[in-house]
Amino acid sequence: MPDQSSPSPEIMARVAELREELAQHNHRYYVLDDPVVSDGEYDALYRELAGLEDEYPFLYDPASPTQRVGEKPAKGFTSQRHRMRMYSLDNALNREEWDDFVRRVNDNLAGQGLDEPVSFWADPKLDGLAVEVIYENGAFIAAVTRGDGETGEVVTHSMRTVRNLPLKLRGENLPALLEVRGEVVMSRADFAVLNQRQEEQGDKVFANPRNAAAGSVRQLDPKIADERPLRFLAYGLGALEWEAGPAWTTQANVMAGLKELGFTVPPHGRECATADNVHDHFEDLGRLREDLEYEIDGVVAKVNDLALWDELGVTARFPRYAIALKFTALQARTILNDVEFQVGRTGAITPVAILEPVSLAGVTVSRATLHNEDEVRAKDLHLGDTVIVQRAGDVIPEVVEAVVSERGADAVTVVFPTACPSCGTPLQRREGEAAWRCPNPQCPEQMRQAVIFFASKAGLDIRGVGKRRVEQWIDEGLVATPADLFFLSKEQIRGFERMGDKSTENFFNAIHGAKEKASLARLIAALGIDLIGEQTARMLGREFADLDELAGLGMEDWRVRKEEDSARAKEQRRLEGIGQEMMESLVAYFASPETRVMLERFKEAELWPTNPDAGKQRDEPGDTPLAGKRVLFTGKLVDMSRDQAKALAEAAGATVASSVSKKLDFLIVGEKPGSKLDKARDLGVQVLQLEEFRALCSGQGNEEPPAQGNLLDMT
Ligand code: IVH
Repeated sequence: MPDQSSPSPEIMARVAELREELAQHNHRYYVLDDPVVSDGEYDALYRELAGLEDEYPFLYDPASPTQRVGEKPAKGFTSQRHRMRMYSLDNALNREEWDDFVRRVNDNLAGQGLDEPVSFWADPKLDGLAVEVIYENGAFIAAVTRGDGETGEVVTHSMRTVRNLPLKLRGENLPALLEVRGEVVMSRADFAVLNQRQEEQGDKVFANPRNAAAGSVRQLDPKIADERPLRFLAYGLGALEWEAGPAWTTQANVMAGLKELGFTVPPHGRECATADNVHDHFEDLGRLREDLEYEIDGVVAKVNDLALWDELGVTARFPRYAIALKFTALQARTILNDVEFQVGRTGAITPVAILEPVSLAGVTVSRATLHNEDEVRAKDLHLGDTVIVQRAGDVIPEVVEAVVSERGADAVTVVFPTACPSCGTPLQRREGEAAWRCPNPQCPEQMRQAVIFFASKAGLDIRGVGKRRVEQWIDEGLVATPADLFFLSKEQIRGFERMGDKSTENFFNAIHGAKEKASLARLIAALGIDLIGEQTARMLGREFADLDELAGLGMEDWRVRKEEDSARAKEQRRLEGIGQEMMESLVAYFASPETRVMLERFKEAELWPTNPDAGKQRDEPGDTPLAGKRVLFTGKLVDMSRDQAKALAEAAGATVASSVSKKLDFLIVGEKPGSKLDKARDLGVQVLQLEEFRALCSGQGNEEPPAQGNLLDMT
């Protein structure tokens, strides 16, 4: 009978001791690879602890070594925003690209008056799933996948089962908040054992360790994750709040610090004094590659001095202080059996090679893209050819070339169709474009692809409504356009194989949930209009009040808008980046009667996001406190992240610059500002303390006392 009361001090002390001891053994076994007790001894301690915890539920502690597998599977994934964006990395595919990167770094720093030689930290680029693990006062509290870099999925329950992940940080002085980024991986050996077991049990066999790792983390049931031998290898930091913490000034410091806190860091990471050293290390690891414990696909090189990270900044997608040097693609030979011509959602025809299945770095490849007609011609492919295929990292496999010397006498050359394989409409090719297109907006295959795209992650991200499901609905005639999804009744959804009440309810809720959540920008992106990607959609979503306004524009209106836009100060231009071709694509899309009908159906379904602030900054330039100002942050911002500060500045109408120059209006300084402050003073740029900046943003100007409370709640 469990005892609800608090146990005696002796028992409490014993439990604390057992937890400490087990955590130590865990660390020695999984992190240091140097166990000091036998499995039997470990089990005995574990059982003693589990027994006491069972007896005294009062002693429950999620950080206890017994709590790696929580009891219940999670209901579904929730998503969580990263405090600081998780960037991905630009690639260097050869020596020249690495040299270019180094040159850019040096030029950039020289431009800021910093021309000491730069050293690097280089560690292997692990092939797994990027995850951020979060600790508060030393205790593991959450884990979130990288996701799109801004928001990821909460995978705390499955990460808890990762044996080398500390549930409590080691040491006395611990940070109030620590976010550690790293890769969840599975070793080659563990992967082989897992796959064998999967096969014996008739379960899914994984294509490679990376898929196995990613699939296991994204398991709702921690019991399953627990059976998968996952490891977390730490390579960087997110947010950090650590009063009197160590002064980590280099990436080398960070890695050593993470090790001390109990993390495993990637093997073969090292400091490289020069760019040549990095390249040598890259080549060394390339030779060792097949013998390493974990699969790697290159080396990540990071500028070692963390102060320079701030100076170098980031582009829209990548940091400028780090890059991935990728190993050359893996190649294999196989036979080209056939070529299929796929119709995409915008009508573009893509030739796809149908190959004799071949194993490429652990993945079976049976299809590969041939890109377009010109590529097929340039490669002079014949059916039956022996071809070389390659796969580089995540990239879709492609056919490199035909082995002409092995071509049979009867091989026939690949002929590009002149009519759409789906609807038979003659194909067209626009000037300057490589793709042939089917011009029929009612082409069944285009419509099918458009609905699939609409529901996909890149579209409205309707959870669970994947390609197969959408295809069933289309084949049954229930859905023809994206708008039809919102008119599906529960009865219609239930009418499919393996659809119980529960899944029906889930689908229904996913569809209607996505509808409630959709912003104008998301909806525009989901339409999959030719040439209009996510970035452009976001901009259009800010600029227009709703789809009607966007749809109402003809080419002439666009021209007027663009003219108005270019008359504005550069920082206030809103249509920058929308070129002639994009405008034409938008006008053509919205002029089509099918689109008009669909928009009406969206309205009827109440999928009609609006943007009350449309073009606000455009019409009232002086309306926000920092309208048109250029600002830059430097030093540690005490209680906000860089991303939050940036959001605050932008909400106040400012743009955030990437370096100090005369054009800068304000340099906003936090604690321990670096060289930027000196430079700003030299150039006579106005310097603001963080509090002053906040006051300005809140429209209180300089005279008023700094604003109270957390202004950032508004973002
Ligand atoms: S550093 C700004 N180090 O590569 C620095 N990333 O292409 C960002 N990755 O999402 C990451 N091994 O999943 C870093 N040693 C390593 C890595 C690594 C693998 C992955 C990570 C990231 C992706 C970026």
